[in-house]
Amino acid sequence: MKILGIETSCDETAAAIIEVKKDNPAVTLLSSTISTSMGLHAKTGGIIPEQAARQQIQYIIPVIDQAIGDAKTTPYEIDAIAVTYGPGLIGSLLIGIETAKTLAYVWKKPLIPVNHLIGHIYANFISGNSKLETRDSKNKWQMENDKWKIVFPALALIVSGGHTDLVLMKKHGSIEWLGGTRDDAAGEAFDKIGRLLGIPYPAGPQIEALAKSGDPKAFAFPRPMIGTPDFDFSFSGLKAAVYRQVQSMSDTDQKRKIKDLAASTQQAIIDVLIKKTLKAAEKYQVKSLLLSGGVAANQTLKERFALEIKNLKFEIGLFVPPAQLCTDNAAMIASAAFFNYKEVPWEKVTANPELYFD
Ligand code: KG4
Ligand code: ZN
Repeated sequence: MKILGIETSCDETAAAIIEVKKDNPAVTLLSSTISTSMGLHAKTGGIIPEQAARQQIQYIIPVIDQAIGDAKTTPYEIDAIAVTYGPGLIGSLLIGIETAKTLAYVWKKPLIPVNHLIGHIYANFISGNSKLETRDSKNKWQMENDKWKIVFPALALIVSGGHTDLVLMKKHGSIEWLGGTRDDAAGEAFDKIGRLLGIPYPAGPQIEALAKSGDPKAFAFPRPMIGTPDFDFSFSGLKAAVYRQVQSMSDTDQKRKIKDLAASTQQAIIDVLIKKTLKAAEKYQVKSLLLSGGVAANQTLKERFALEIKNLKFEIGLFVPPAQLCTDNAAMIASAAFFNYKEVPWEKVTANPELYFD
């Protein structure tokens, strides 16, 4: 079957086609088109919802058209339409939802609404697109590609610009929320601290690039909530600490030390994410660890996770989608729809900007 995915929850307008063959449960990505209004938001230092929605209107039809064309398919061959119905910006969500509803009605296709957060997790279930690390029979660790081996129970860490959540997956459709951020999301921390350092939105990739030649121990920034017994996170204290540090420095000093500031910030965020995630992995004795969301595109985070899971006393597979499937995309929405196939009549599908985990 072929599923058309549509994602417009924030500043990306995305469409993708996945295919699953009858005798093989692997999800194959046929096409993924993403148009972003990020350039506009870089100028304003953050997303202006009205502007993002206006861009969505402009892009939505050409993006869907291209996804269908790139997949060398036709609307006739599409079996279902999946669309993000929340969480997200209301204006942006509505563009995707109303388009998906119209297409479902006109083309007479089933419509499957998808939770954006669950969508992020399902980027890992697109065949050949996750890297994983497993221990072989000789107890050696090795990186494997193109393997289809996510085993339940799995622990998913969603780290994006809007969310930081840890969820336990016992099987498809069975999701238990373990904890999340009490204030800023991990990506939001990167973006807000980036702003303090004069780095344009979204700051995550640039902080990562600067951090490569900086000293992560140069500044002793706090690791908020790292030792608490829950699975919650907090990043606003880190932001405040970086603010105080930057305030105490002259402009020239700040510029001179920007790589150290970036490296120390990144290290603090990564330390907390890893500590809490591995604590949950141990408690629930999970067999797979699935990273997802924009921050999972961070190479240092991935490498640290790959390193640290070796210290666990049990076997675990680490999965991380490639960078273009970590940040917002529609392939993950189509993938989530396939594994959680729940058709809803188009008249009943509405946007839910505050949607979280059920
Ligand atoms: O998943 P995503 O595209 O959108 C949301 O659903 O929020 O995530 C975007 C977030 C931004 O905060 C961005 O700064 C962060 O992901 N990000 C990164 C990296 N690439 C994107 N953060 C750290 N390192 C990166 N390489
Ligand atoms: Zn997202």
